[in-house]
Amino acid sequence: MDLDQPTVPLTGDVRMPLLGFGTWQATGEAGYDAVLAALDARYRHIDTATMYGNEKEVGRAIRESGLRREDLFITTKLPPDRVGRERQTIEASLAALDTDHVDLWLIHWPPSAPGDSIPVWREMLAARDENLTRAVGVSNYSVSQIDELIQATEETPAVNQIRWSPSLYDRQVHAAHRDRGVVLEGYSPFRTSDLSDPVLVRIAQAHDVSPAQVVLRWHIDHEIVVIPKSVTPDRIRVNADVFGFSLTAEEMRDIDALGRSG
Ligand SMILES: NC(=O)c1ccc[n+]([C@@H]2O[C@H](COP(=O)([O-])OP(=O)(O)OC[C@H]3O[C@@H](n4cnc5c(N)ncnc54)[C@H](OP(=O)(O)O)[C@@H]3O)[C@@H](O)[C@H]2O)c1
Repeated sequence: MDLDQPTVPLTGDVRMPLLGFGTWQATGEAGYDAVLAALDARYRHIDTATMYGNEKEVGRAIRESGLRREDLFITTKLPPDRVGRERQTIEASLAALDTDHVDLWLIHWPPSAPGDSIPVWREMLAARDENLTRAVGVSNYSVSQIDELIQATEETPAVNQIRWSPSLYDRQVHAAHRDRGVVLEGYSPFRTSDLSDPVLVRIAQAHDVSPAQVVLRWHIDHEIVVIPKSVTPDRIRVNADVFGFSLTAEEMRDIDALGRSG
């Protein structure tokens, strides 16, 4: 991947851009327009899912952008009710996205029957071994649920995508992922933030940026992947403009302190 944005290494030679573009609730033409605008604003990592019902629009936007497939990082996710139909599901994702592989395939939520998690994980690993995806991981898993997968298969999920933001910051959860070699990917950075929080506003003013940009930069400086969503062209651009400043150690500590264990 030829990219001047920060990335985090996953397994092998796979590198994941720390900034991605979220697409939940960005469907139909609005979804297509948003992804095209995001690629134009230099996002190179797109987060979708079977459940979002927009893989076709994401695929069309990628095609129309004219960018090379190898310069993009695409994540999609397996809905937990597809137990036993994993292969069919990724084939449908690849057809809709119009690509022969994704970069990351995640189990969207732990299956409701706890015994199903390990067979699903084995199917994910099989898809990776067949090069349908370059890396595999999970979403909405607890650390103990991740440990069950590792114990059963000796294969560590490359990524766990969970709700994350300054107000949800938990140093121990972050460290537990790092200790296992699992990259933490945060979702809903704005939905779970108070963008009028005085700490965020003060730090934003100090850098002449918005509190939303501070939230995104805080993830990146912690080496946590972040995937803001917007269908608004100005916001799409501003949310990608987070590489022209960085936060001081003191500012990072002040933002951490907004969380549960800051
Ligand atoms: N794995 C999972 O279970 C899971 C669950 C939820 C989300 N996700 C992923 O994470 C992505 C992001 O999470 P999310 O969509 O829940 O929420 P989010 O990115 O935290 O917030 C999106 C909302 O914030 C608004 N917004 C965007 N930029 C803004 C800015 N600069 N200032 C103020 N408001 C702004 C958007 O409005 P407009 O669109 O109107 O501009 C939208 O209403 C999703 O799209 C999806 O890809 C994964």
